Amino acid sequence: MTTTPKRYTVTAALPYANGPVHIGHLAGVYLPADIYVRYLRLQGRDVKFICGSDEHGVPITIRAKKEGITPQQAVDKYHELIKKSFEDFKVSFDVYDRTSSQVHHETASDFFKKLYADGKFIEQTTQQYYDETAQQFLADRYIVGTCPKCGNENAYGDQCEACGSTLNATDLINPKSTLSGAVPVMRETKHWYLPLNEYELWLREWIVEGHKSDWKPNVYGQCKSWIDQGLQPRAVTRDLDWGVPVPVEGAEGKVLYVWFDAPIGYISATKALTPDWEKYWKDEETKLVHFIGKDNIVFHCIIFPSMLKAHGDYILPDNVPANEFLNLEGDKISTSRNWAVWLHEFLLDFPGKGDVLRYTLCANAPETKDNDFTWKDYQARNNNELLAILGNFINRAVVLTQKYYEGTVPARGELTDYDKEVLGVLEGMPMVIATYIERYRFRDALSELMNLARLGNKYLADTEPWKLIKTDEERVKTIMNIALQISGSLAILMEPFLPTSADKLRNMLSMNPAMWADAGSAEMLPAGHVIGKPELLFEKVEDAAVEAQVQKLLDTKKANEMANAVADPAKDNISFEDFSKMDIRIGTILEAEKVAKTKKLLKLKIDTGIDQRTVVSGIAEFFNPEEIIGQQVSILVNLAPREIKGITSQGMILMAENADGSLAFVQPSKQITNGGTVS
Ligand code: MF3
Ligand code: ZN
Repeated sequence: MTTTPKRYTVTAALPYANGPVHIGHLAGVYLPADIYVRYLRLQGRDVKFICGSDEHGVPITIRAKKEGITPQQAVDKYHELIKKSFEDFKVSFDVYDRTSSQVHHETASDFFKKLYADGKFIEQTTQQYYDETAQQFLADRYIVGTCPKCGNENAYGDQCEACGSTLNATDLINPKSTLSGAVPVMRETKHWYLPLNEYELWLREWIVEGHKSDWKPNVYGQCKSWIDQGLQPRAVTRDLDWGVPVPVEGAEGKVLYVWFDAPIGYISATKALTPDWEKYWKDEETKLVHFIGKDNIVFHCIIFPSMLKAHGDYILPDNVPANEFLNLEGDKISTSRNWAVWLHEFLLDFPGKGDVLRYTLCANAPETKDNDFTWKDYQARNNNELLAILGNFINRAVVLTQKYYEGTVPARGELTDYDKEVLGVLEGMPMVIATYIERYRFRDALSELMNLARLGNKYLADTEPWKLIKTDEERVKTIMNIALQISGSLAILMEPFLPTSADKLRNMLSMNPAMWADAGSAEMLPAGHVIGKPELLFEKVEDAAVEAQVQKLLDTKKANEMANAVADPAKDNISFEDFSKMDIRIGTILEAEKVAKTKKLLKLKIDTGIDQRTVVSGIAEFFNPEEIIGQQVSILVNLAPREIKGITSQGMILMAENADGSLAFVQPSKQITNGGTVS
């Protein structure tokens, strides 16, 4: 579309209500979508921003099972949590609905019925794994077994997380049901399929020929490769007891496949929003844009459009600006490994700093390739960019205006070439930023916004009004007027990216509501307009704050290592005689001190009940000498004495080693008389 569309329907992928949302979600999908929509609204365009929770499918039932609650309880819990996170980060949906709603069930059901009645499905009976103990068919995720590619014994029916291979449940060696542990059997089941092969030619024309130049290369490339490989019929129903029931006879116990019902959720949510919903979905003059992450590309570019095409009443997406993935401190973000910065936790640690995270995530968004979020970068973006450039410029402009003119915008006098140049850049800026946003290049748009603040800073640094005020008051009026025009424009242009700070700035400048088209003007804040008091837009992020976050991640890593630790295999068998040669006793530590010039050694004096003896033990990294005096330990008393660092060590203290390498004493569970035997 080259002309301005009549209206926009902008969707952001419906997140699964099976866990909280993290920075990867925000950076990949919701932030770019929000920037786009806020920009469109400032342009006065008619736009509906649609989202909601995806509450069906196996991801939900698995989560519920894990937490020992019902699927409904699980989605109720996470729907609220996710919704609040989006509100807190100012993601400005017009509607945040949910797919468990009545309207959605009806809409999805009707959609299926229409395709069914029009003969758009094929029916197929196939063999699927069935758990006779749990009495249900098994989704791929409910089957584990040995990966045929790498031998990992805990591969899932759809994927091996050890080697990354995509699998079919039937590929697994020694499959087992995760529901009951039973060995699944094959059983016949009937399902409805959308014959994607029949849409191949049309998809090729629409995407491969039609969207070569306007879809992002990562999106276009994935679509082309799917189409080139040849499309197969896709099942749109499942044997599951959670979801939208399949609304035809002979389909008891079956539900719509979650990837069939969820995208219809965009339509249901629009219905919930406005009785006018049809023009947002059925009018060719509406521009439909889907914001998603890269794992959703095939569903939004191939499958959902084929469904819409089969239905016949609906428009197709004009663009699907999918992002790549965001990593965290060099590692893939993972819910199961708790390797994430959760949005709700971020705000607990950094209250009121939503804009700073928005800024960091946009400046470093995974638009064309996977990217890495680091806390160091977060700190640097805040301190060196938001604070030092944007915040500093605004602060200077407002403080000096208050100081020299009690807040009244002074009139400009004659303009120098430099003034004219600066006003020229200012005038062109809204168009520059708009062009990037309309092409879904949000990083570039943000970087231009910061260039404008940089220009303002440089202008003040070059013209030095704080010095000039002593010699040329008239000139200072012109300088301050120009600095204020830049400030006013920034308040508008930054709104899509930094909505909270933009509000603050508009208040500070006592601005009237303004539109994108107002920005760039040299009369943004006319002479005589009175601005408000200076307020700091950003604060320094201290080292300690980011160090604490890094420590939190290190703790997570450690916890994961412990959880995944595999015990060493057992040693060869020994006889009872072998074992009884060892004389192990309970003793009490009487004295403990570090062995000089060593890191690891403690010299201990132990009351063994037999005698008091000296033992040198390599445990100094884990214990303070003072703290272990009086503790009971197990000691091998008949180990031949050894000379260690000039000390004769008589025996050995038994230690248990943790997965992280730390050590603990092997102690009796109640007080034992010294000399008591261990056997
Ligand atoms: N819940 C899916 C995910 O998180 C996205 C669904 S998008 C929709 O990957 F189009 F199906 F709604
Ligand atoms: Zn594998």
